[in-house]
Amino acid sequence: MAAVIVGTGIAVPPHVVSNEALTRIMDTSDEWIRSRTGVVSRRFVEPGTAASDLGAEAATAALADAGVGTVEVDSVICATMTPDRQNPGIAGAVQHKSGIERVATFDLRQQCAGFLFGLDLADMLIATDRADTVLVVGAEVHAGYLPWGNAWDIVLGRTHRPVTDDERELANRHRAWSVLFGDGAGAAVVKRHNPSASAGGGQPVGFLASVLYTDGANADLIEVPGLGSLHRPYVDAAQIAEGLHRPAMNGGGLYRLAVETMPEAVLEVLTRTGHKLGDLDVVVAHQANERILDGVRRRLGADESVVPSNIDRWGNTTAGTLPILFHELRSADRVGPGSLVAFTSFGAGAHWGATLYREPGRTALL
Ligand code: ACO
Repeated sequence: MAAVIVGTGIAVPPHVVSNEALTRIMDTSDEWIRSRTGVVSRRFVEPGTAASDLGAEAATAALADAGVGTVEVDSVICATMTPDRQNPGIAGAVQHKSGIERVATFDLRQQCAGFLFGLDLADMLIATDRADTVLVVGAEVHAGYLPWGNAWDIVLGRTHRPVTDDERELANRHRAWSVLFGDGAGAAVVKRHNPSASAGGGQPVGFLASVLYTDGANADLIEVPGLGSLHRPYVDAAQIAEGLHRPAMNGGGLYRLAVETMPEAVLEVLTRTGHKLGDLDVVVAHQANERILDGVRRRLGADESVVPSNIDRWGNTTAGTLPILFHELRSADRVGPGSLVAFTSFGAGAHWGATLYREPGRTALL
């Protein structure tokens, strides 16, 4: 018995912010951002739109794609590093806003690896007969983290006033990480597989193997140091003044660990299932930045056709990157019946892993 993905959906907000727009408020250039990160533009929500709003929109689209009614959903798993508020998490809000009745929900805090951990949890819930249909959502609204204050209007081209020295200084202080991120969400409906159907050729379909790892010793590679029980009070003016409510990133350290761990995890799930690298049709890898993807490609001896990227259009949407990319690949028929897919991600914490998945034939979804 296996679980399969029967529908996917995404939600991306309306405001497109180009690299050029960022040059209005910080000392950077389109060339620097493109060559270091691969990002060309990213999207942001309007104030008042939260991660659960994007998550619910993606969830609704995924249910429609699957032809699955809200009453059929047994559980909702949500991954985000940008919850609507400090607590509770967003899973309840996504459930409610999606019109799903009372069910068990889970909030995952594995940041960029959250959706990957969610897929595995969905598979486990189904394998242990705790659920037949599970909605897995990755949703982020990073806009609130960004150090642009009143300069948002300049970024969005709504005013042509010059940026102040203070605004430029603040934006410059955080320019290494702030150029990477965008808002967005994706969702997948995971359902118990109908064993009478297969991908063709009698191959097993659905989730075939998964490895998940955490090494808390590397939690400070990227973190939000403020706003927590480490502080008394949780938050105060001093933390805000120091910028502890925003991410702090060791870019080089992250790069080295991400390019090592993601390929290792992919190789591990292949080995466990008796597959070779050449059997893979596609690696859906976390879209942290293009340089990390290049490193993953080099280590796997694969090119962009096997390890695709969409970071140029969306930026790094953290828990949203895997479901957004998978949805795009499915919609473009780059993933179809029988495709062997490795999902892999690396996130703050540090959390990482890989899941091997074979897309079922369409009849398996009936
Ligand atoms: N525009 C222009 N210059 C910049 C910018 C910017 N946006 N940001 C930093 N710089 C400058 C720095 O100030 C520095 O200047 P200096 O030499 O005068 O001091 C110079 O560029 C080089 O800075 P580095 O930090 O050495 O830049 P690097 O080449 O390492 O690239 C980057 C930085 C892109 C962040 C890189 O380290 C990286 O890709 N790391 C991976 C981190 C990552 O992808 N995080 C994603 C989130 S975490 C996750 O998803 C798992």
